[in-house]
Amino acid sequence: MVRHFLNLSDAGGDAVAAMTNDAITRKAARVGMPKGQADQDAPLAGRVLAAIFEKNSTRTRVSFDMAMRQLGGSTMTLEAGSMQLGRGETIADTARVLSRMVDAIMIRTDDHAKIEELAAYATVPVINGLTDLSHPCQIMADLLTVIEHGKALPGLEVAWLGDGNNVLNSIVEAAGLMKFNVRIGVPEGYDCDQSFVAAAQAAGANVRVERDPVAAVAGADVVVTDTWISMGQAHAEAKLAAMEPYRVDAALMSHAKADALFLHCLPAHRGEEVTDAVIDGPRSVVWDEAENRIHAQKSVLRWAFGQL
Ligand code: CP
Ligand code: NVA
Repeated sequence: MVRHFLNLSDAGGDAVAAMTNDAITRKAARVGMPKGQADQDAPLAGRVLAAIFEKNSTRTRVSFDMAMRQLGGSTMTLEAGSMQLGRGETIADTARVLSRMVDAIMIRTDDHAKIEELAAYATVPVINGLTDLSHPCQIMADLLTVIEHGKALPGLEVAWLGDGNNVLNSIVEAAGLMKFNVRIGVPEGYDCDQSFVAAAQAAGANVRVERDPVAAVAGADVVVTDTWISMGQAHAEAKLAAMEPYRVDAALMSHAKADALFLHCLPAHRGEEVTDAVIDGPRSVVWDEAENRIHAQKSVLRWAFGQL
């Protein structure tokens, strides 16, 4: 069976835990090494990842390339618009061809059905680098960051503020797998995908909507937000207005636990979903979170190649 990583549940809770443990070990083992130098064991030596982008990216693009270098392999970054995919070659045929040429495929695309189709026809692992539905690699980095900062996942109280988007869907999915709780501070009309909520609740996670942003944040261990307008979405004034009460500012953050962490997948829209005082403040771990994209994805790649 080829190991695709389209959502966190493709791996499951035990594998997610194995990946975060592996990431912690490997990150510690390479402290002080030049960033592009391969880890001593170079476990993906000779392997090539094709990284396809149908949307913009800074972190996903750079972190997958660096992850492959550090694992001893290499990456070919492809803009979908300059591939034949961009002028009508089918996803299925693209999957068949790339599977003959490279060892794994990472894709950032819009409709989640596209990545499912790619995975259905690929005979090498396919990894989700963000779709409109989910962003599992981001949440692997988020889990790693939270653990690194001394917080155990079971029972953790996570507060989400803002839009019910792809990043929130993957956080909710992680809650079910890793047994933490999520208060969803999202205005009416902007809720996340209910199938993720139902699955997390069925797995025993306390995932609940709190329309009052203060109630969502009260006593939280981790406060998370993201852009109010995701890539591909229209810039809607009505949506921005609905999001206003959910901005993470110092006053809202003060309702969380005193040692609460602030996470944001980035890019941030400073002054919209988060103020400078919070993102640049003492509770913010967003730069660790960004760096951890490399370390977490190395372990996702090792899992996809059957090494974990
Ligand atoms: N967080 C994240 O996925 O960033 P990029 O859009 O820059 O890849
Ligand atoms: N929700 C954002 C995440 C960007 C990394 C988007 O989809 O644009």
